[in-house]
Amino acid sequence: MDLASFQAQLDALRVRALQAIADASSPDTLAEVDTSILGRKGELRALLGGIGALPAEDRPRVGALANPIREEVEAALAARREHLEASALEARLLAERVDVTLPGRAAWRGSLHPIRETEREIARIFGQFGFVVVESPEVETDELNFQALNIPADHPARDLWDTIYVQEPDGAPVDGPKHLFRTHTSPGQIRAMRAAEPPIRILTPGRCFRYEAVDASHAFEFFQVEGLMVDEGTSMAHLRGLLDAFAHEMFGAGRPTRFRPGYYPFTEPSVAFDIGCVVCDGSGCPACKRTGWMTILGAGMVHPVVLRNGGIDPERYQGFAFGMGTDRITMLRYAIRDIRAFLANDLRFLERF
Ligand code: PHE
Repeated sequence: MDLASFQAQLDALRVRALQAIADASSPDTLAEVDTSILGRKGELRALLGGIGALPAEDRPRVGALANPIREEVEAALAARREHLEASALEARLLAERVDVTLPGRAAWRGSLHPIRETEREIARIFGQFGFVVVESPEVETDELNFQALNIPADHPARDLWDTIYVQEPDGAPVDGPKHLFRTHTSPGQIRAMRAAEPPIRILTPGRCFRYEAVDASHAFEFFQVEGLMVDEGTSMAHLRGLLDAFAHEMFGAGRPTRFRPGYYPFTEPSVAFDIGCVVCDGSGCPACKRTGWMTILGAGMVHPVVLRNGGIDPERYQGFAFGMGTDRITMLRYAIRDIRAFLANDLRFLERF
């Protein structure tokens, strides 16, 4: 080999290298070009490794020929790398572009369920008279749902509550507690009396269950709020005054109210508490079955047997209790015609509150 053919091979390598650099479309392919030309096992090294074949006096000139080409290739690589990186960034910016001038999407805000709203309003009204909210379980024992409330097993009064019983787990003692879905919030009375000394003023709002034929005014899953007051000298007059105050705040100051005799095994005497019909204001309409009155709750003086079952001395203390259907109160407040709407989870209904 002579210097001229070395020079020719060097030029050919230069042309190939610059072409490959220009063709590289990604930083990765560019890195491959870099290694294959300038790397330890690259073409330039291979070419330089052959200079032993040159005449001795030509060898010192090899560096002067090869170095400018190496520098040119290095510069081309650097320029191409910079270009590829810049356009990758540009492509990314383009893809991830955000138009900050677009109008925002409004956050969707939930609202309280109408039943919960009514529970809060009931708690607010009775709260003014010192009643506090306590919770009571939805799965109850037969003892607390019935027996302690003066409703013995096999007593016909049980027919007032169509009960859904819970199957006891395998291995549960035959004479152990029997469980059921509470049919009313009244077992909360017993729990409250056993948990605290009088004076007691509590509300227990919550979900109840009955084996009902479902229609527009009956659900098998519904809500009640129980109220209980136990103290010395508690009387029916206190009950009446309290319920009047409640009815007037909930349904309007002029709303007439009345007590009618009622029956519950756990209160004596027992009453139904009526308000003047909220639809016709008392003149008589289909909503009040033309009576002008609507019953909104049951109530009465706590039966001495029930006080005793709650660990309270009926000679010293008296109490009253009331229980209202939260669904019904809510239906009257908002003129809702079908109780099934509450648990249907239809947003078109729920969004209106
Ligand atoms: N627990 C009764 C019911 O569900 C309502 C009630 C409660 C009546 C408290 C009197 C006293 O029908």
